[in-house]
Amino acid sequence: MTDLKRFDGHGVLVTGAARGIGAAVARRLAEEGGRVLVTDRDLLQAERTAAALREQRLAATAFACDVADRGSVEAAVARALALFGSLDVLVNCAAHCTPDVPLFEESSDDAWERDLDVTLTGAYRCCRAALPHLSASGRGAVVLIGSVNGLQDYGNHGYSAAKAGLGSLTRTLAGHAGPRGVRVNLVAPGTVRTSAWEGRDADLDAVRPLYPLGRVGEPEDIAAAVAFLASRDAAWITGTVLPVDGGITAVNRAFRTALRGGAGSA
Ligand SMILES: NC(=O)c1ccc[n+]([C@@H]2O[C@H](COP(=O)([O-])OP(=O)(O)OC[C@H]3O[C@@H](n4cnc5c(N)ncnc54)[C@H](O)[C@@H]3O)[C@@H](O)[C@H]2O)c1
Repeated sequence: MTDLKRFDGHGVLVTGAARGIGAAVARRLAEEGGRVLVTDRDLLQAERTAAALREQRLAATAFACDVADRGSVEAAVARALALFGSLDVLVNCAAHCTPDVPLFEESSDDAWERDLDVTLTGAYRCCRAALPHLSASGRGAVVLIGSVNGLQDYGNHGYSAAKAGLGSLTRTLAGHAGPRGVRVNLVAPGTVRTSAWEGRDADLDAVRPLYPLGRVGEPEDIAAAVAFLASRDAAWITGTVLPVDGGITAVNRAFRTALRGGAGSA
């Protein structure tokens, strides 16, 4: 638990917050004094997550929100305003990732459109609904959750295109919203141990050696970076993409290992 209290009295809306990175972000911002609307399309799990925070005397309320539905997003923003009186921070975590099929030419329009609709357009819907209120707050901040998939090839073409698109949205929205007093940044996580990797311990073990820092990420690693970018500590930072990835996009471990005849570079 951090001693920082950078969000005292702030109204915070987190999407995809029932579990994983979104839940860790909700916890971190609540620990720092934020009043958090824990939104997710899975209301039951969102309620469990919010209840666990309230048990620790943190301010959290669950609300059903499917980012694929404009009305649902607008209802969540309205709920945050009604509860908190202002909306100061938006964190967009909800995403959809269709696993690759063996042959690219057999991939479907439906899968591509779903990945784009939830991951990219969902974030756009949230930003559009929240922006006037973030601007009115005078200290508004948006943090989008991208992925290293938006920066390099890690497979999952629809999801990766959507994550790359979020980088562009970050920059154009930063340009538009900066003069209105709102900062917009993106955190691009590497592999993070969440329910998205449930039952795939062998895969997590397999990718671990590719990480210069010797481990995959935990949701709290991402939440700490989100809290920084959403806080006044980042008052002069907007339009940036921050990889929080144990160094995997900066360092080519496979290349180093190949040069050393497979002996490893540790
Ligand atoms: N875990 C990783 O390795 C990893 C790596 C890079 C980026 N990310 C990104 O981090 C974010 C969170 O991922 P995670 O690993 O915590 O996932 P997760 O599967 O643990 O949690 C995702 C949450 O989003 C919710 N959700 C899905 N579709 C939604 C929708 N349409 N509307 C609202 N909520 C919806 C789910 O119900 C779930 O609670 C995502 O944007 C993901 O792309 C994760």
